[in-house]
Amino acid sequence: MASSIKSKPRKPSPTSRLLPLIDAKKIAQRMPGLAREIERDIKLRERPIAIVVLQGGFIFAADLLRSFSPRFEIDVAFVRCESYGTQTQSSGRVMLLQDIDPAIDLHGRTVLLIDDILDTGLTLKFLTEHLHRRGAARVHTCVLLCRSGRPAVPNTLCGFEIGSEFVVGYGLDYAGKYRHLPGLCVLDQSPPKRKRAVSR
Ligand code: IMP
Ligand code: MG
Repeated sequence: MASSIKSKPRKPSPTSRLLPLIDAKKIAQRMPGLAREIERDIKLRERPIAIVVLQGGFIFAADLLRSFSPRFEIDVAFVRCESYGTQTQSSGRVMLLQDIDPAIDLHGRTVLLIDDILDTGLTLKFLTEHLHRRGAARVHTCVLLCRSGRPAVPNTLCGFEIGSEFVVGYGLDYAGKYRHLPGLCVLDQSPPKRKRAVSR
């Protein structure tokens, strides 16, 4: 199943460079605040379950989940989606590559969807609808990043607002690369400046 919007894929450039954007320390400092907000929004009697959106959300989810208080009992499951492929712009189609374990009964449950970035919002819209179809009563979302200027999505918490730049690191990739970087970097794809020739 796929939702679609019009978007123009951009060709990857061979001259990409990495410019630091948010370092690992700043990301770590944001985790307790996000965790406390979630603990306020979600009641334990709702039997919450965190659903981590792979692949981009795996490092963020690992840090966020470990920031919850031990009393905040939350189950964990995974789903895998793709909308970018090897491009730096959404294809406009969200593909469900791996569904949540069918043995998990979501009826009447509160879900916390954890993803890396809210860009066009298609992925989270697609997944929210999918979760409701599987019986979830409420879906909250927590993303590490969201793009400024995009309309707010209800029940969505965001770690940091960023601009339109394409970012990698801390789980986010470009064509499968850079997920392992401890902090977030902008993938600069502008052509490198020419060195001026030195005349003697
Ligand atoms: P959306 O469906 O347009 O909101 O896109 C969300 C998905 O696109 C995220 O889960 C990411 O996998 C991917 N994405 C969007 N922007 C970036 C980026 O700047 N770097 C890496 N992945 C991105
Ligand atoms: Mg993703």
